[in-house]
Amino acid sequence: MNSSLAGQPRPIIELDSGMAFGCDYNPEQWDPAVWAQDATAMQQAGVNFVAINIFGWSHLEPREGEYDFSNLDAIIELLHEHGIRINLATATASPPPWLTTTYPQVLPVVEDGTKRYPGGRQAFCPSSPIYRHHAALLVEKVAQRYGNHPAVALWHVSNEIGCHNAHCYCETSSIAFRAWLMERYESIENLNAAWGTDFWSQRVSDWSEIFTPRLTLSSRNPGQSMDFRRFSSDALLENYRLEADIIRRHSDVPVTTNFMVTAHIRNMDYFSWTADMDIIANDHYLDHRLGEPTTELSFAADLTRGLAKNDPWILMEHSTGSVNWQPHNPAKTPGEMMRNSLAHVARGADGVCFFQWRASLQGSEKFHSALMPHAGEDSELWRDVVALGKTVASLAEVVGTRVESTVAFIFSWESWWAVDAETRPSESVSYLEQAHAIYAAIHALGTTVTMVAPGSDLSGYDLVIVPTLYMVSDDHAGVINDYVGNGGHAVITFYSGIVDEEDRVRTGGYPGAFREMLGIRTEEFSPLLPDQVLELSDGRTSSLWTERTTLQGATAVSSYVDGPMPGGPAVTCHEFGQGRAWYIGTALDQDGLLNVVRTALESAGVKPVAAEADASLEMVRRSAANASFLFVINHGQQDRSLSTAGYEIITETTVSQSLIVPAGSVRVIREEILP
Ligand code: GLA
Repeated sequence: MNSSLAGQPRPIIELDSGMAFGCDYNPEQWDPAVWAQDATAMQQAGVNFVAINIFGWSHLEPREGEYDFSNLDAIIELLHEHGIRINLATATASPPPWLTTTYPQVLPVVEDGTKRYPGGRQAFCPSSPIYRHHAALLVEKVAQRYGNHPAVALWHVSNEIGCHNAHCYCETSSIAFRAWLMERYESIENLNAAWGTDFWSQRVSDWSEIFTPRLTLSSRNPGQSMDFRRFSSDALLENYRLEADIIRRHSDVPVTTNFMVTAHIRNMDYFSWTADMDIIANDHYLDHRLGEPTTELSFAADLTRGLAKNDPWILMEHSTGSVNWQPHNPAKTPGEMMRNSLAHVARGADGVCFFQWRASLQGSEKFHSALMPHAGEDSELWRDVVALGKTVASLAEVVGTRVESTVAFIFSWESWWAVDAETRPSESVSYLEQAHAIYAAIHALGTTVTMVAPGSDLSGYDLVIVPTLYMVSDDHAGVINDYVGNGGHAVITFYSGIVDEEDRVRTGGYPGAFREMLGIRTEEFSPLLPDQVLELSDGRTSSLWTERTTLQGATAVSSYVDGPMPGGPAVTCHEFGQGRAWYIGTALDQDGLLNVVRTALESAGVKPVAAEADASLEMVRRSAANASFLFVINHGQQDRSLSTAGYEIITETTVSQSLIVPAGSVRVIREEILP
């Protein structure tokens, strides 16, 4: 669904009031006496959109074939009476105990071949025909009953599909995997060629010899592992499609599911899912295991926007405070919930939603924050929620506007999977870390990117960033090479272009597919040992990775002073066709990375969003034909000042020349548009 028609912003979900503000609501956990209080308090907080029925299956179908919709009917009517629109889940996220007791073959099996049992959630094999059959029966009933209900504004298929059960290794999965492989390869010979089974005597002569890649004594066949990842992502997408198709027979309301574009989830190749989504929705939780988590938030929000093809999207879940599933779960600091929420809005979210309305009293998530904390309404957290609700409501005019950027950032789930494989040159090279590192440099320079899948049309961009694109097809590499040849600018980081989509190494020297375009040739990788830090000719340092590279037309921007290749190039630049490309052949320190990215941005003529933007003053612009909104998020401890003019929406003040953004605060300026 394209939200902008001839530049005119249009909402992606039909709500009576602008931006969506809401949460998951799990009334099953509460006495019906609480429900009316909930609806009233939701109104007080400005909640206009709630997700219900996410974990409703055991209530809706307490015994096989016996349905009871009375509570769901009552909740839907209550919310409707209070003017709260509904994001209606299909309830298939977690099968009820009767299903896995009656049909234990539904239970998932993990890598070591052992079964996982009910008692948690998502305890099913995604390929199970029995699970699918029962899920489809339930969805039919739900869609039929509520498909035309005026309160339903969005369909929410299942929940965080693949969060826990993305990879099932059971016999049913093996059968489904074989069918998927037959379709992909058509013949066993093609499969043998694709998987390189001549290595270690792995040649198969019949499809029945193929299984899911359960744990082995040594490392597993990388082709098998890669295809299993592809198959598993597709199997989960099939489950989504099964439900979406049923819903669409009963309802015209948009259908989606909540993605998990967040640091620790990598099992779904969401670029291959988006065509099936009417709108894109994401769940994001700050990951304190990453150290400083706010840049990752921006990365995830930009990737979600990339999945939405730059259209607005919905932040379906985040948290008001701590989560409960990390080793340590800090509460949010003052202003952090506001900063996090509006950072998502700045990067294209047209809705700010949370898990969950009321903090649970029991169950695994009882210490997870919520809009209504255990402490009740007399709490800072609740007052912050009410304040956030007001702010989100004041941003109604932003709905439907878009974030535009002239920098493309290529993100590849397949390279993520392949780089992090069992055997590799260095276990310290992580795809996501490398992608995050170069993103952090662009972010610190106040530039916004558009994330795109490999193979996307790059012609409209001034600069393309290509982090660690290890696995890339000839066609997709060709798009990047042609883009540079035709006058584009690109920055490519090490361990890119190495293998094709069948994980087959390109010969003649690295970085394979990009060698000619980059004007270099690498004969050998020489990853560094942990803690090894090298000096570079420009005074900066590098770690993790080096390569024995020779210049074949490129010039050295910096070279190694010490380490395995003293004098060898570390960073290069090459004029290719009408364009220019940089290669970063090592993990540069922060300053080194900033320097290369800054040079490339300047060379490509890309301007920052505003001169004052940096790592702690995050600035992003959303715009439409006749409107422009500058989001300014001060993550730092100091007040910051910037030159701007217009109307500041949060403090309701006119700004004529400059604006102070207090430490820890957010400002949104409706900019003056010069005629
Ligand atoms: C996910 C799930 C929710 C809840 C939260 C907790 O986002 O969708 O049901 O478990 O995590 O952070």
